[in-house]
Amino acid sequence: MKNFNLLIIIGFIALSACNSDSLYKDSNYSIMERTEDLLQRMTLEEKVAQLNLIAAKSETNDAEYIDREIRKGKVGCVLKSNGVETNYHLQRIAVEESRLGIPIMFQEDVIHGYKTIFPSPMAEACSWNLSSIRTAASIAAKEAAASGIHLTYAPMVDISRDPRWGRIVEGAGEDPYLSSCIAYERVKGFQGNDLSDSSTIAACAKHFIGYGDALAGRDYNIGDFSEREMREIYLDPFKAAIDADVKSIMCAYSAIDGIPATANEEILVDLLRNELEFGGLLITDWRTLENLIKIGVAADKTEAVLQAINAQVDVDMVSEFYSDKLVELVQTGKIDESAVDRAAARVLALKFELGLFDDPYKYLDKKREETVQSSFEHLQFARKSAAESMVLLKNENNILPIQETIKHIAVIGPLADRKKDLMSWWGAEYSQCNVDDVTSIVESIQAVVNTGTKISYEQGIILDGFEKKGLELIDEAVAIANQADVVVLVLGEEYWMSGEGGSVSELSLPGAQNELLEAIHKTGKPIITVLVNGRPFDFRKVKEYSNAILEAWQPGTMGGFAVADILFGKENPSGKLVMTMPLNTGQIPIFYNYRRTSHDFYIREEQSRFANNYLDISTEPLYPFGYGLSYSEFEYSNFSVAVKNDSIHASVDVKNISSVAGKEVVQLYVQDIVASVAQPHIRLKGFEKITLKAGEQKTVEFQLHTSDLTLINKEMKEVFEKGVFEIFVGPNSVDLVGIQVEIN
Ligand code: BGC
Repeated sequence: MKNFNLLIIIGFIALSACNSDSLYKDSNYSIMERTEDLLQRMTLEEKVAQLNLIAAKSETNDAEYIDREIRKGKVGCVLKSNGVETNYHLQRIAVEESRLGIPIMFQEDVIHGYKTIFPSPMAEACSWNLSSIRTAASIAAKEAAASGIHLTYAPMVDISRDPRWGRIVEGAGEDPYLSSCIAYERVKGFQGNDLSDSSTIAACAKHFIGYGDALAGRDYNIGDFSEREMREIYLDPFKAAIDADVKSIMCAYSAIDGIPATANEEILVDLLRNELEFGGLLITDWRTLENLIKIGVAADKTEAVLQAINAQVDVDMVSEFYSDKLVELVQTGKIDESAVDRAAARVLALKFELGLFDDPYKYLDKKREETVQSSFEHLQFARKSAAESMVLLKNENNILPIQETIKHIAVIGPLADRKKDLMSWWGAEYSQCNVDDVTSIVESIQAVVNTGTKISYEQGIILDGFEKKGLELIDEAVAIANQADVVVLVLGEEYWMSGEGGSVSELSLPGAQNELLEAIHKTGKPIITVLVNGRPFDFRKVKEYSNAILEAWQPGTMGGFAVADILFGKENPSGKLVMTMPLNTGQIPIFYNYRRTSHDFYIREEQSRFANNYLDISTEPLYPFGYGLSYSEFEYSNFSVAVKNDSIHASVDVKNISSVAGKEVVQLYVQDIVASVAQPHIRLKGFEKITLKAGEQKTVEFQLHTSDLTLINKEMKEVFEKGVFEIFVGPNSVDLVGIQVEIN
């Protein structure tokens, strides 16, 4: 779409020479030709209708309203309408009963799975396994497409450094490089190689831009970031999505320097359309045209519409403002009809690309829907992917995996028997997953454990919101802990506590979970804590009282089994954190790639009042970015770096010195020693996930070009500056060895 320049739709003259009644129906013509042909047959009202995206389920719309509006040819796209039966009904009305029979494009939030739910996006990112991430997106696309969906509002590529903001669960963590790699793979996974293939769907990178900068971690709040921060941190994943040919982008709810994203010409036209050359569909977020009035930058619908269309926003999600006002604005000369043509052409072009004009029912095959959803292969893949997303944070004396000598395990904790909480907010509330198909952690342990090992279960407390409830249940939990050889304690948060609108002010475990942890600790029994949560927390107590910690995140449909697989050694953990785990809430925002300061805490050798420090708590995190253990042990050696023809070649040997096969994420970071603008302490610039058998050694090589070592200079241009760079490798962002090289 990037090169498909529809900005000037004036090719009508050439096409009229073709003189065909149905050129746009003929697949021998190019998408551009077909789009232009169709456009010239359409009335202004019909073109505006293409920009109208209505919700199948909303406060204002009922089924009759949707049918009626589609029949009148007033709707271009529908969201939150799922299933072959429902969408066939609507598509038939559009194709057979509206004047031009233009098919509907069905859109949905397929965030981390449709029916088979994969780990939450942030969890999945912790796998650092790009090919697995791409496959998961392609499975999600296949299942969604089989239910008549054509476009997903994913991937969310927002970077955030504030775990109070509930939507961090939906991104790929704090790092621009890793997030960009993942954004690319997710787009490719959803869209495949051929969008007209009925098992692929269009992707939508969201939310442009800076939505993750929500002040105080409160969702929908204002952000306040500089252009430099935008270019250094938030922009790269969008660039990567555009490189992957993402078909659409969604505007952020928030404002950039006081101007809401939806009405921001500098951001949407100058930056997105012109600088990044994005030619695809630009969609508002939910009712963001209405928000322009609420925020107070537009006095009424007309002003809101003018601002958005001038910012080249193509599709109006749910507010129906375009539908109400655009015709009048063209007729009164306030906007030129070419602005409507341009936006409508983008919608139509995507419908052509999806193959909808060649066969509007191609995504609507009942048989396919029944066989594709939650197939055995999909579920098995979800189980593997969930296991690979989990991060082993602690494993004192190799207490994990649980040995066969253990004959009695007490499974304790309010989340051990929950199913919905293994999903994320999106998975639980907005996917097509049937929660009854999910196996809880305790059920999975019972299914996977050796016969002969006894499993006892107690919830210990009641987790129902943030209040402390069910403290009277702790005694029963202590009683079973006392009888057991080991305790598996499942703690975390309920699914709805993170996700959209899921902001919290305190990163401590909700309810009476810390009380339960303390009581179990007093029994003196070894504790293996399994964490089920969407965001990093203040887990200081968990670290202190547990002998092992497995961060399982919100692992999806097969998450219970994946936990059991790791606990009993059927899977070897290999996830690494993609967000820094803080010590406490006051450290927020804390992230690994801090810009260097004169009093940098990272380089302080001795405690000093005059360091970039807190007086009351360490400035180190609980666990750093990139951190994660394995049942294997890896040794790094022979690190070398050489410069050849303006590129840097780094090489390191990694050996599995344990007796268990495992996977390691080898990470490469760079520090620009002297630059015209202060640079981050270190920046991730490469990684490779390798598999090593027991005793096996591999050489991992990295190649860095000057284009990988750029910075944003004083003029806000991305440039490479010659000089000295320190190249680091290691298993996480802290345990690194570095070598300096010079590029002249
Ligand atoms: C969210 C979007 C989502 C949309 C449609 C909004 O509230 O911010 O990310 O895609 O709703 O469900």
